[in-house]
Amino acid sequence: MRALVKQLLRPLLLIGAVLLVAAIFTDFGPVPFRLLLAATVPACLLGVLLFRESLRASVEDERRAREQSEDRLEKFARINAELTRELLESRVLDEEHQLRVKAFDAFLQGVTITDPNKPENPIVYVNEGFTRLTGYSRDEALGKNCRFLQGKDTSPETIATIGAAIREQRPCFVEIQNYRKDGVPFWNALSIAPIFEDNKLTHFVGVQTDITAFKQMEFQLRQKQKMEAIGHLAGGVAHDFNNLLTVINGCCELLRGTDGMPDDALPLVEEVHKAGERAATLTRQLLAFSRKTVLQPTVLSLPALVTDFEKLLIRLIGEDIQLTTDFPAEGGLVRVDPGQIEQVLMNLVINARDAMPRGGRLTIGARDVFLDEDYVRQLSEVRPGRYVRLTVSDTGCGMDKSTLPRIFEPFFTTKPVGKGTGLGLAMVYGVVKASGGHVSVESEPGRGTTFHLFFPIVDEPDLVAQPPSRHSQTPGCETVLLVEDEAGVRTLARQALESRGYRVLEAADGEAALQLCREHPGEIDLLLSDVVMPRMSGRELRQRVAMLSPHTRVIFTSGYTDDAVVRHGVFQAESDFLQKPFTVHGLLRKVREVLDRAPAPGGELLGSRA
Ligand SMILES: Cc1cc2nc3c(=O)[nH]c(=O)nc-3n(C[C@H](O)[C@H](O)[C@H](O)COP(=O)(O)O)c2cc1C
Ligand SMILES: Nc1ncnc2c1ncn2[C@@H]1O[C@H](COP(=O)(O)OP(=O)(O)OP(=O)(O)O)[C@@H](O)[C@H]1O
Ligand SMILES: [Mg+2]
Repeated sequence: MRALVKQLLRPLLLIGAVLLVAAIFTDFGPVPFRLLLAATVPACLLGVLLFRESLRASVEDERRAREQSEDRLEKFARINAELTRELLESRVLDEEHQLRVKAFDAFLQGVTITDPNKPENPIVYVNEGFTRLTGYSRDEALGKNCRFLQGKDTSPETIATIGAAIREQRPCFVEIQNYRKDGVPFWNALSIAPIFEDNKLTHFVGVQTDITAFKQMEFQLRQKQKMEAIGHLAGGVAHDFNNLLTVINGCCELLRGTDGMPDDALPLVEEVHKAGERAATLTRQLLAFSRKTVLQPTVLSLPALVTDFEKLLIRLIGEDIQLTTDFPAEGGLVRVDPGQIEQVLMNLVINARDAMPRGGRLTIGARDVFLDEDYVRQLSEVRPGRYVRLTVSDTGCGMDKSTLPRIFEPFFTTKPVGKGTGLGLAMVYGVVKASGGHVSVESEPGRGTTFHLFFPIVDEPDLVAQPPSRHSQTPGCETVLLVEDEAGVRTLARQALESRGYRVLEAADGEAALQLCREHPGEIDLLLSDVVMPRMSGRELRQRVAMLSPHTRVIFTSGYTDDAVVRHGVFQAESDFLQKPFTVHGLLRKVREVLDRAPAPGGELLGSRA
């Protein structure tokens, strides 16, 4: 536009000047015309000047406007950039937020956020973990206080601990019993932390973890440790009692056979003896529980054993209870101590009888089962494999949840004083465990009880089957080397042996025994020795006697056997063993049985066993 004006302006000025000169110096046209022309030209010039001026002004305006618009554009661009940046940032934030939400939902744990600035500190956020854990949907949880997860077994102390932490706006960590929507209880490891902004409390965040499985394992471990501790204690007490009872009961037996005993003294001796026998049964059960009994196992079929024992069981339960057995035609063999298993059966059957005072049904069954990795993982000391499951089931009163976990504890009984000692199931537990097995129980109040006893199946047939002895009454003439550190037990055993005609060499420990062995001119037929003695153990004594007198046979006695010794199978496999408290009759029978046995090939009984 400006360039056009510039181009036009010059020719116009030139035309104006020519016209002016022509008008003045020529007599072209009338005077008024010349005057008009003379006036017009300056006017044109003025107009042109004005036009030029206005043009300049408009160009200036245009420039300014352009500058302004450029400014505005720049501003817009800046704003735009700002907006874009903000937009971009907000998208990133959004993505972060999304990621966080996703991460929270992927948590196995529950996450809850509550708003303590609203009445009742309601939930404002829960993740999916929470809904998975509790069974409550988001909508059901939002707006409520978390206490709706609590129930009848939730500890009031734990609730108070959380309450105090929340009031004092500090974090807390508790383990609390909660309930899912379907009513199933679970253990919740709950951690709660306050969230502050500008030193002002805005929210609480809670993380809920299901620790039910850990709690169960912890409970089982504690239960096992408790049983072991009680076992040690019981085993120790039983050991001391065994020595005392061997003396008390043995003396009673000897007194009864004594000539010239006053008539009025005999019933008293009988009473002492009865009490002593009862005490001996109790210590035997305690020992069985603490797995300190020396088992004398044989390989056998459990159904066959139960069938042999059935008559006695029927007599135990009375007429109101109907006994049914359910055994497979063929089943696995197990290695157990038959005497102990009979005791186990008796204890279970008596318990079932007591649980059915108005009669009912008692079923004893057996099945071969396979316990897999999954099954045994929860159990201590049980290996996966094939087992015979012996089931004893009754239709009696059953047990409630508070009784069930305690029934295997020694001295736990719900029976009136004088009725039950609480040792029956402790003994069952000990025997089954010592046989490498496992026992479980199912029971509900009013719905009866079922005990499952699992015994590992063995493939090899039994190696040692000792025929019962018929020789306890046979008088003896052999020489017995008696080694026992308890003077009372030693005297009793000597008296018992001498009363039957044996010649007894008596020693209080291994050294003295070896001395006697060296000095004795004749043959020593039998070494009757305690196992655990100061200075020299029974086992070492056996080896040293073997060197001096290779034909001497051996019987070990003990009231308590070190776990290690039992586990190493010293007695079970290699030696004859007499568990204390032994009776005079039992001692004489065992001695005769061992002396009458044909010598082992090679004849060196001691030497071959050492
Ligand atoms: C963030 C947060 C999470 C919570 N989660 C649980 C929970 O999972 N289970 C529970 O029993 N209590 C939970 N509570 C505790 C209860 O909401 C409540 O504070 C507690 O019962 C003590 O208060 P009260 O005595 O008024 O019931 C949570 C509390 C907060 C603040
Ligand atoms: N079959 C069963 N039905 C219901 N409760 C049972 C059954 N077996 C055991 N119990 C419960 O377990 C408790 C412990 O049993 P356990 O055999 O150890 O001792 P006890 O029978 O009380 O006494 P003991 O057997 O020493 O005479 C019993 O007191 C009883 O409460
Ligand atoms: Mg019982």
